[in-house]
Amino acid sequence: MSERKKVTIRDLFDKAARGEPITWLTCYDYPTAYFQEQAGVDMILVGDSLGMTMLGYDGTLPVTMEDMIRHTQAVRRGAPTAFLVGDMPYMSYQPSNETAIRNAGRFMAEANCDAIKLEGGGEMAERIRAIVNAGIPAIGHLGLTPQSVAALGGFRVQGKGARQAKKIIDDAKLVEEAGAFAILLEMVPDRVTKIITERAKDCLIMSLGSGPHAHGQLLIFHDMFGLYPKFKPRMAKVYGNAGEVILNGLKQYVKEVTNREFPQRENWFTIKDEEYEELLAMLDE
Ligand code: KIV
Repeated sequence: MSERKKVTIRDLFDKAARGEPITWLTCYDYPTAYFQEQAGVDMILVGDSLGMTMLGYDGTLPVTMEDMIRHTQAVRRGAPTAFLVGDMPYMSYQPSNETAIRNAGRFMAEANCDAIKLEGGGEMAERIRAIVNAGIPAIGHLGLTPQSVAALGGFRVQGKGARQAKKIIDDAKLVEEAGAFAILLEMVPDRVTKIITERAKDCLIMSLGSGPHAHGQLLIFHDMFGLYPKFKPRMAKVYGNAGEVILNGLKQYVKEVTNREFPQRENWFTIKDEEYEELLAMLDE
């Protein structure tokens, strides 16, 4: 295990103040969390994208709080010091302030999170304020917000036109004023991100496909390693093709078992001769 001290909000702001970009990845399970912790990733998001990457749904809407809590607990066991963010799933915060506070509280109490993230701009300011007033650090999410993908007309860049860009900039201000300590911008043009970052007073701006002018970067783990077979978004950089490695290994396994090349002597266990003789004698009795 790494010797790193627990990453806090203060550490994240200090890093930004030093001009060092913050690293942030999605993660949904124990072994991946273990590797991310060893690699020194600052922040981990247990995203409701797990609906697609782990559960095989076409989108994030079917994901429940139970799904989120179970995966977030596993991630925390693998990454004890990373700054852990739980992603509020669809309808876990939209209905009322009370629903939002209760579900945000579950992430903190049951999964030992450091913060929660929720999608939406000015219309969600009241929810953010309620969560923050309950003592729970909150992160906003603007631009492409997957829970509203139907209303946004698909997975596409948000803020390409001046009016839409202005709305995202205004929303960022409202979300910061509501108390969010960070905002994730997903698929927002780089120069719009720059304006938001420059205007942020006490708020970390994080980018997912939104360019370099942010305090930090987020990537979806499965896109980085070829582990999501349905598609790879343009914004994702592939750092290795683990999917191909796994598929090749699986094909090899099927071939070796079929050809009786597996198992080999080192892959099974034996019983001592005397114990075996005694066993046969017992069976003959
Ligand atoms: O669920 C998720 O992983 C997210 C990212 C797309 C930002 O919210």
